[in-house]
Amino acid sequence: REQIEQYHEEIIALLEQRNATLVAHYYCDPLVQELAEKSGGFIGDSLEMARYGRDTDASTVLVAGVKFMGETAKVLSPEKQVLMPTLEATCSLDLGCPVEEFNLFCDAHPDRTVVVYANTSAAVKARADWVVTSSIALDVCDYLDRQGEKILWAPDQHLGGYVQKQTGADMLLWNGSCIVHEEFRAKGLREMKAMYPDAAVLVHPESPDAVVELADVVGSTTQLLNATETLPNPQFIVATDRGIFYKMQQRSPEKLFIEAPTGGQGAQCRSCAHCPWMAMNSLERIKNELLSPANEIFVAPELITRATIPLERMLNFSN
Ligand code: 13P
Ligand code: SF4
Repeated sequence: REQIEQYHEEIIALLEQRNATLVAHYYCDPLVQELAEKSGGFIGDSLEMARYGRDTDASTVLVAGVKFMGETAKVLSPEKQVLMPTLEATCSLDLGCPVEEFNLFCDAHPDRTVVVYANTSAAVKARADWVVTSSIALDVCDYLDRQGEKILWAPDQHLGGYVQKQTGADMLLWNGSCIVHEEFRAKGLREMKAMYPDAAVLVHPESPDAVVELADVVGSTTQLLNATETLPNPQFIVATDRGIFYKMQQRSPEKLFIEAPTGGQGAQCRSCAHCPWMAMNSLERIKNELLSPANEIFVAPELITRATIPLERMLNFSN
């Protein structure tokens, strides 16, 4: 523990020297989240991270998360330096939606409004009319449906399917998925619910439909976290990355948080309830990056110009 405290202090001093702020996602290692808190930085869901990155006065934003989060920060604040602990931290949704194929898909359906999930590259966002995160996907698609618009949705098929079902919107879906959330299983969850009859079930909408059906609350990471405080249940079964347990437990020390069951087994399951790319954001990498930045995010100016439009639309919509 003493060693960790020292590490934290060293990194906080480096952040100050560089006029940098640390913004972390809830799926990061608890020690990284703790550092974000102690340093006066920020922890949030992907929408809040984007807004914080844009609004902060710091000249450097160090993003502990995955690459699309760093790119979003850069697009929204091209004048800031955006650093990441590693550029290898990607996302299966981003990987599963290469821009060349995505452009062909859009070209084939020119009559549709293009809505992309934030978990995509800046190049994919540059082709979109709207960017959404899980916290506002339903509201934006519902709004577009009411305007009579047909939607082309990418890349997460589960979130897309959930939104389609809830809103009744006409949506054509890309077939991407999150390797972490697609591992949650309805059968095991039903058994667990029977074991914990007082527990509320919280599910991130990147999970399969059968799992979402069993949820008491479906929402973004922040929405799930808030539910742990507003619901009176003493126990919660949580179908999302276990990194979020740090904040849940901190806010409600008296409550019990249980990981929802997954299909994989133990060490063989690289992605069971924990994102392997989020896990790359170690304290050591954060410190090294501040000592000698090697993982700066750069986005081509023409992509910044185009991707800013749907990203700002998202931020304005959610205000
Ligand atoms: P949130 O927008 O809910 O933070 O989700 C981001 C993410 O990557 C979920 O897997
Ligand atoms: Fe991507 Fe899933 Fe990891 Fe989130 S948890 S960053 S959606 S792979």
